[in-house]
Amino acid sequence: MALESAVDIAPAEGKLGVLLPGMGAVGTTFIAGVLAIRKGLAKPIGSLTQMGTIRLGKRTDDNVPLIKDYVPLAGLDDLVFGGWDVFPDDAYVAAARAGVLDKHMLEDIGDELRAIQPMPAVFEQEFVKNLHSDNVKPDASKWDHAEALVTDIQRFSEENGCDRLVAVWCGSTEVYREPTAVHESLAAFEQGLKDSSPEIAPSQIYAYACLKLGIPYANGAPNLALDTPALLELAKQNGVPVTGKDFKTGQTLMKTILGPGFKARLLGVNGWYSTNILGNRDGEILDDPESFKAKEVSKLGVLDTIFEPERNPDLYGDITHVVRINYYPPRGDNKEGWDNIDIFGWLGYPMQIKVDFLCRDSILAAPLVLDLALFLDLAKRAGMSGVQEWLSFYWKSPQPVAEGLYPEHDIFIQLMKLKNTLRHLTGDDPITHLGAEYYD
Ligand SMILES: NC(=O)c1ccc[n+]([C@@H]2O[C@H](COP(=O)([O-])OP(=O)(O)OC[C@H]3O[C@@H](n4cnc5c(N)ncnc54)[C@H](O)[C@@H]3O)[C@@H](O)[C@H]2O)c1
Repeated sequence: MALESAVDIAPAEGKLGVLLPGMGAVGTTFIAGVLAIRKGLAKPIGSLTQMGTIRLGKRTDDNVPLIKDYVPLAGLDDLVFGGWDVFPDDAYVAAARAGVLDKHMLEDIGDELRAIQPMPAVFEQEFVKNLHSDNVKPDASKWDHAEALVTDIQRFSEENGCDRLVAVWCGSTEVYREPTAVHESLAAFEQGLKDSSPEIAPSQIYAYACLKLGIPYANGAPNLALDTPALLELAKQNGVPVTGKDFKTGQTLMKTILGPGFKARLLGVNGWYSTNILGNRDGEILDDPESFKAKEVSKLGVLDTIFEPERNPDLYGDITHVVRINYYPPRGDNKEGWDNIDIFGWLGYPMQIKVDFLCRDSILAAPLVLDLALFLDLAKRAGMSGVQEWLSFYWKSPQPVAEGLYPEHDIFIQLMKLKNTLRHLTGDDPITHLGAEYYD
């Protein structure tokens, strides 16, 4: 499709290196998935960049290309993978241990997976209590660790002939922390690195190293990282697009699908109780109350911004919203999420909805990693920098672009925003759904 570009987008030529700090269940399911899809062994189900379409012009125009044919995205054959992990296992062993994908599928791509070895991690026990292993960088200042990551990235890029790089944090959820003075400005943060400030988390050091090198960065976990003035300043300074946080999968995905539906029909909600059983390593990490707190804050924010209780006090002014995650090893990555939703209708008569979602966490998250990598790379080539609000579609807790601006949580508005951004980038009219052009 030859469309005139409104924004000058550099072509997606050459190799795109995808760097993953954290190569556990999500990271290896993403890598193995792309390798399997490349070999024609499976389809990229759940990926908007690979299977999604976009309507252009009027409904009667019948012009609905695939998104990947509409905007210049890196092709799957051009992706190369690298990353860091606290465990020394190569991607084959890590994927087998995660137990998400069938053994026979892993065998078909075994050689490529075995060739992907995690680089030693920047790790601090204080930030992930329930994790113990030793593929970590030797003791040094946080500044030295940031420099070591820069060296890792440069070496990876050279060895793999990368033309461009992107990074998606797929590491464990770190403990909940509020931003402090050290996060207030880039200068304070750099000083904090030199002083090895205890307030600077490993995930922030990865983000710093990537932004320093102009590498677009996404934060798949709920902990504090890109959402600090210091790192946003660096992103702006170096013209780097960033996005976060906390992949929207499972129960929260359901919430952002169902919630807008209740609101559209003005059905009231006075209770939403969500509980999960989960047996993978993520579940084990979240068994630590401080890591769970980061997740809880991210999950709880969703309903408030969808329901806008201050505007709709009769419908949503008094909701009891509870979220629980229980570590239950027998389930592995196959989480079960229950929701009990207490709603009310005409004249206040109560009703209940029960959702029992037997989901596969990493199967839901892997296509998001792929889309984020490809869209962030597109954003960089289109000269976009700072927080990419059009990617809020992917997040449980989308990062606001400006002080005081609430993030959009409604998945349907988020999708419209994403597609209109793509239309805008290529110089097509946004679709408003007004439909006035069809009437006399
Ligand atoms: N799967 C989902 O549906 C989903 C949804 C939202 C968010 N997330 C988040 O995505 C992240 C990954 O989830 P997962 O299921 O793959 O977890 P996982 O435990 O299988 O993998 C995380 C990996 O990160 C590594 N790690 C931890 N700290 C590190 C560090 N400082 N440097 C390098 N590696 C480090 C761990 O060793 C582990 O291998 C978690 O933070 C999780 O909360 C997952």
